[in-house]
Amino acid sequence: MEHHGESGEKAQFRSMTEGTQEDWSLIAHDYVGFASGLPDRVMAHLNLLNGDFGGFPIDRLTHSLQTATRAHRDGRGESYVVMALLHDIGDTLGTFNHPDIAAAILHPFVSEEEHWICKNHGAFQGYYYFHYLGIDRNVREKHRDNPYFEACAEFCEKYDQAAFDPDYDTLPLSFFEPMLRRVMARPRNDMALKAMEATGAKYSVPA
Ligand SMILES: [Fe+2]
Ligand SMILES: [Fe+2]
Repeated sequence: MEHHGESGEKAQFRSMTEGTQEDWSLIAHDYVGFASGLPDRVMAHLNLLNGDFGGFPIDRLTHSLQTATRAHRDGRGESYVVMALLHDIGDTLGTFNHPDIAAAILHPFVSEEEHWICKNHGAFQGYYYFHYLGIDRNVREKHRDNPYFEACAEFCEKYDQAAFDPDYDTLPLSFFEPMLRRVMARPRNDMALKAMEATGAKYSVPA
């Protein structure tokens, strides 16, 4: 994978106790370059879901795109649509807890409500199929008193559970790419990034 903005120079320390300002300025410079490549790494990882059907009527990438397409056409904002696009990106590595992976990736870039929807969508999506697998379809009820309960139920009802239609006019990843770059252009409140920039390193996501 391409490493954005790497200088090729290396810090001199063999343990951090030997670290110098020079070392850390160099590392900071490389870090902001690497950080700005996040949207590219996310898209590459999302593409791993291409052709992965797992018995479903459409593959996991098309399901992700269709969930995002439905949210976009329903007038949702960009960070919501990006959350919809990435909500199942963890299927490959988080096979037993996939919503946690997407929620962690999205956390710096989306609202608290969008993060909660993503992190908990598995239990809410289960309302539509858990009973076929011998599981209580109402496990989502444990969240009934949460202020984001209805928002998460709505995400699953309108977009996620509805996004398995092979005949739906699903938008391609290229449609969502500029949106993804805008949403990931600046993490909210990222201490590490601020610290790196304090050394003079410049962070920006390519458009
Ligand atoms: Fe999911
Ligand atoms: Fe999904």
